[in-house]
Amino acid sequence: MTGAASLSGLRIVVSAGPTFEDIDPVRFIGNRSSGKMGFAIAAAAARRGGEATLVAGPVALETPIGVERIDVRSAAQMHAAVLALLPCDLYIGAAAVADFTPQQFASSKIKKRAGETGLTLELVRTRDILADIATHARRPRMVVGFAAETDTVESYARAKLADKHLDLIAANRVGVEGAGFESDHNALTLYWRQDGRDCARALGPAPKQQLAEALLDVILERMTA
Ligand code: CTP
Repeated sequence: MTGAASLSGLRIVVSAGPTFEDIDPVRFIGNRSSGKMGFAIAAAAARRGGEATLVAGPVALETPIGVERIDVRSAAQMHAAVLALLPCDLYIGAAAVADFTPQQFASSKIKKRAGETGLTLELVRTRDILADIATHARRPRMVVGFAAETDTVESYARAKLADKHLDLIAANRVGVEGAGFESDHNALTLYWRQDGRDCARALGPAPKQQLAEALLDVILERMTA
């Protein structure tokens, strides 16, 4: 990339895609994340000379050139894989990690019984990978999160920025036409704090590859500020 700031010498870990939380051997709880945004970020980081590792949930995407890929399925596996990659310089949590997982995995297929009109699944909270990374003893220099919001975007995103101790958060403006989970396009608003002030920058709508480059530009600006 001509003109793009270099990531040479930096270790970058990116999470991408959904997680699947297994209920029994044939069923799981998942979400609609395609992984495209995270894969585009890892690809852009590698193109700029960064040592990029992608921790990917279950997605059907090709591994970008120059990127090391670790495949995981559940939120717990993603948590373990990401933490095992510390120390690194930059963590970007683009994965749509399940917030809840079944309390118990049924080792044989759950059968319906005559007369049963419903089924109650007991779910428990997963561990927050982003928050754990941001408060870790070997915290990366820069921790970036994502937030998918339909409304009150800025206040929800800024609350996550503060609560999870992040350096920057990228809010997906869900509901923007042509953007979103399965799309090749997206629109982001970045929020961060600088010298006690609230800062923001809108990126896109644009192809996810172009957004990934623009996001890395802002991240590098912040890392060298
Ligand atoms: N995240 C994580 N570990 C979890 C849950 C989320 O690392 N167990 C990360 C995601 O990778 C993303 C950000 O946290 O970077 C999203 O935060 P979250 O609070 O889960 O967002 P929402 O799912 O939008 O939360 P809410 O349902 O409260 O709006």
